[in-house]
Amino acid sequence: MRRTKRTLWTAAATLAWVALPVTANAARDKADPLAPTGRWSANQDGQAALPPMGWNSWNAFNSDVDEDKVMASARLIVDKGLREAGYRYINIDDGWWLRRRQPDGRLVIRADKFPSAKAGSNQQTSFRPLTDRLHAMGFKAGIYSDIGRNSCGQVYTPNFANQPEGTIAEREVGLYGHIDQDIALYFREWGFDYIKVDGCGIRGLGKDSEHVRKGDYRELTPLIDMNSLARTDIPAVRSLYEQVATALRRENPDGDYLFSLCLWGSSDVRGWGKQIGNVSRTSDDITAHWSRMLTNLDTSATRALYAHPHTWNDPDMLFVGSGEFDANHMTEARSHFAMWAMMNAPLLIGFDLRKANAEQIALLGNRAIIALNQDAGGNQAVPAYLSDDVQIFVKSLANGDKAVAILNRTAAPIQPVLTTDHLKLRGEVELTDLWTGAKSRFSGETKLTLAPHQTLIYRVTGAHRLANGHYLSEAPSDVNPAEDGIATPEGDPTIHHELSPWGGSKGPGDFPQYGGWGGAQADRTPFGRPLRLMGKVYDTGIGVLANSRLEVRNRGQSRFAATVGIDDSVTARGQRVVFEVYGDGKLLARSRPVTLNEAPATIQADVRGRQIVELVARADSAPEAALPVVWGDARLTD
Ligand code: GLA
Repeated sequence: MRRTKRTLWTAAATLAWVALPVTANAARDKADPLAPTGRWSANQDGQAALPPMGWNSWNAFNSDVDEDKVMASARLIVDKGLREAGYRYINIDDGWWLRRRQPDGRLVIRADKFPSAKAGSNQQTSFRPLTDRLHAMGFKAGIYSDIGRNSCGQVYTPNFANQPEGTIAEREVGLYGHIDQDIALYFREWGFDYIKVDGCGIRGLGKDSEHVRKGDYRELTPLIDMNSLARTDIPAVRSLYEQVATALRRENPDGDYLFSLCLWGSSDVRGWGKQIGNVSRTSDDITAHWSRMLTNLDTSATRALYAHPHTWNDPDMLFVGSGEFDANHMTEARSHFAMWAMMNAPLLIGFDLRKANAEQIALLGNRAIIALNQDAGGNQAVPAYLSDDVQIFVKSLANGDKAVAILNRTAAPIQPVLTTDHLKLRGEVELTDLWTGAKSRFSGETKLTLAPHQTLIYRVTGAHRLANGHYLSEAPSDVNPAEDGIATPEGDPTIHHELSPWGGSKGPGDFPQYGGWGGAQADRTPFGRPLRLMGKVYDTGIGVLANSRLEVRNRGQSRFAATVGIDDSVTARGQRVVFEVYGDGKLLARSRPVTLNEAPATIQADVRGRQIVELVARADSAPEAALPVVWGDARLTD
């Protein structure tokens, strides 16, 4: 059996293997997914050099959205200083559409809710007056659609306010079959700058669904099965979203648009969303519950290497202001906000700001926390310590400072210890508490006290452990797992399972959709273990599966070095892995074949003048089980 599995894969690999050192053209052999390309393949299109900030109607109003509510929120964002704090997008979510006009297919706005949209006879409506007003106020404007024929509200929410009306064809308000027409309308004619594209219409309208049986909507063979990647048509889903990306580029020649993918982590979007979108949802919807917030946080928390300028992880919008994050739960609200900032998540307020008190506005406007989210370095925080109870996340900032957040997930007080090793700093460090502004210092370690659900968050200054450069895991925004070696994607079992706000405790419980299980990680193996070679733990490095290719931006440094090997947690025994370093597509260094239980190899390369360094780990045969490998202490130095 082993032999048969090997054959196909090995044939392709062997070809490239022989050819690689010889010519660059051969190295680009399409048959070899590990062949270096010399380029950065994560998305660069659209406007999201930093995570977007703004407001969205959904968490505040559900589908009961109207012009007054949107404009009142926009005005308050100006009046309360939140626009100046960085909130720029005003986004309308589900509930704005009335119908698709027949026979020309132009979308009609619900003008009873958006009076300024009424634009004359034949149901002609336009959002241009509204987007003009928002633009004049210094905002950008966002709209919502679905990749299927029908929307989430239509498919899943029975008592939904503001459902589209009319015949079956008139109620087909989603993009399916109308991508070019709708994107042109939204962006060129109506002047929107942002679109969130949901996926319910390609998920819930199979022939056996109640809506189809009752004749509410046309059947559309589901492309997504939320509970089975094997039953999801991943290429078809991807192709539809790619068509939207193409239309967005065409309709926005100035590049001023933002494309938000809303696939809730399904469809293996982790593997391709970062090539297409500007933000991509990693989980199903957040609700105003502490437990659900933790679930959503977990789906992004170990995915720092999948977030880069112009393409960010999206654990969903903020629920600060409501439910367990309301005025009586400011500790929880602060934790939610601080963690979203650390994750480089979009900061989209989902609160009716007319109800906000001064303390809530102050939290949403906390400049010191916002500065972490909007830091020019674009590095999502990396987990330095993880447990079900307390977690420590560290974020590298552009000026060399670090930010650290210590989260108490439990309902009891807790006294964790923070060390300079967590921070990859040495000597004495100075902490600024971002809630109080208080300064303190420590060397070695310090004991902290956290109230239930509290997050302490500090900006830290100190000498870097690596003086003349950086560890790659300190700059995750510069590392892109172009191929992460996952052969069979599956849901991440480490994500917090909450008491579902949807089903409660009926049924067997909710199971995670895809959340990055087995993907490349900073300072950990792809399955979250410490990096370990021959019994020695490396607290710094990149963990990834074999048969992977990492693209690394080099910002003017001269040397790359790492200690490489097969991680001790491997279950596929008897494999050999070779590690290669490329600079702008040219082979610079190659390790000897490394096996489990032998001294790790060191690999070094002169990367002077090379913009893109690629790190390839290649197994000599197709592994029968996931094969985690380690780029230990991987670093770029002077
Ligand atoms: C889905 C999305 C939500 C929201 C609703 C609107 O559930 O995930 O964020 O847009 O649809 O119906």
